[in-house]
Amino acid sequence: MQIALIATVAVHVLAAVYWAGTTFALARIGGTSAERLFAPQMAAATIAVLSGGYLWKLTHGGGYFGEAEQVLAVGALSAIIAAGVQGMFAGLSLRQLRRGAANGAASEDTAARKRVAMAYRISAGLLVITIVAMTSARYL
Ligand code: HEM
Repeated sequence: MQIALIATVAVHVLAAVYWAGTTFALARIGGTSAERLFAPQMAAATIAVLSGGYLWKLTHGGGYFGEAEQVLAVGALSAIIAAGVQGMFAGLSLRQLRRGAANGAASEDTAARKRVAMAYRISAGLLVITIVAMTSARYL
């Protein structure tokens, strides 16, 4: 039980640190080179969410929904919305940029780059909420 818990927390925090860290960096640099990080970010987000769900089952699985669980739920919801915003807006815009590179459409490229930057800024803000919620829940 203890080993399962330690392993799950390690996987959860490793995936979360990678996802949030790269998201903060890309938000700061306006999504530059997001093409190279998008796929591993989505993989890390999936691992963070799945391991988080399992961690919930291990540590808060009793069905009680007190203050700690409410704060964790806010954090989890923020993470899921962040993954959706990144996957949808950054993902679709990056796909458009790849197509644009083949067709040479410069003005559409600028708009798509702005959408990528915006998607990273929004998801970075949501991940700040997630991290504050996740790290404070156990002290409530
Ligand atoms: C649906 C998504 C997620 C769920 C259900 C979830 C669930 C959990 C649970 C149940 C815990 C243990 C809380 C406790 O100690 O009582 C936890 C810890 C933590 N989570 Fe998440 N999490 C999710 C996503 C994330 C994401 C996206 C991040 C960061 C970007 C994150 C960062 C952390 C951190 C840093 C801890 C603290 C570990 C510790 O103090 O031992 N989580 N999470």
